[in-house]
Amino acid sequence: MKTQFDKVLLEEGEIRARVSELAKAISADYQGMDPLLVCVLKGAVFFMADLVREITVPCELDFMAVSSYGSATDSSGVVRILKDLDANIEGRHVIIIEDIIDTGLTLSYLSKNLRARNPASVEVCALLTKPERRKADISCKYVGFEVPDTFVVGYGLDFNEDYRNLRFIAAMPEEGSR
Ligand code: IMP
Repeated sequence: MKTQFDKVLLEEGEIRARVSELAKAISADYQGMDPLLVCVLKGAVFFMADLVREITVPCELDFMAVSSYGSATDSSGVVRILKDLDANIEGRHVIIIEDIIDTGLTLSYLSKNLRARNPASVEVCALLTKPERRKADISCKYVGFEVPDTFVVGYGLDFNEDYRNLRFIAAMPEEGSR
């Protein structure tokens, strides 16, 4: 499958090493706090699964699914919750686990929504960020990698539901991107 992608941005080994570093940072920061990791479906599933297995403090997992109105490659910032959390997060230390921050509009909505539920804290851990595309001012404490302004797929990230199962992260070939 790799042959279709001339621009592999992040190899499997690089992703693994960075995920391990992020897990170390989270483990150090959250000692004795029993954080709740909130995975934003579906793109962050692989990242969350790898990250949580490297975290060395007790923690819990929950999942949210949101849909952002917009085109396949551009979010609008108008977000609908398709699956809400199972857990009551009042008083909890929440870490939102995201695949990629693009405009930041989805995350901006999500973190406001979660903060309104009176958690002890809310931080964000995103595998990727595209700073050039940012429209919303959001703070992200843990970031894996910065990627250029190009549509990327693999390791959970999709284009029309394809390519999530790639072990690496690649730029979509031009004709399919936007
Ligand atoms: P935002 O609201 O513009 O920050 O978009 C956030 C969501 O759009 C991410 O959680 C992804 O699901 C999706 N997304 C943004 N950029 C990409 C990309 O390059 N590849 C795959 N999905 C993306």
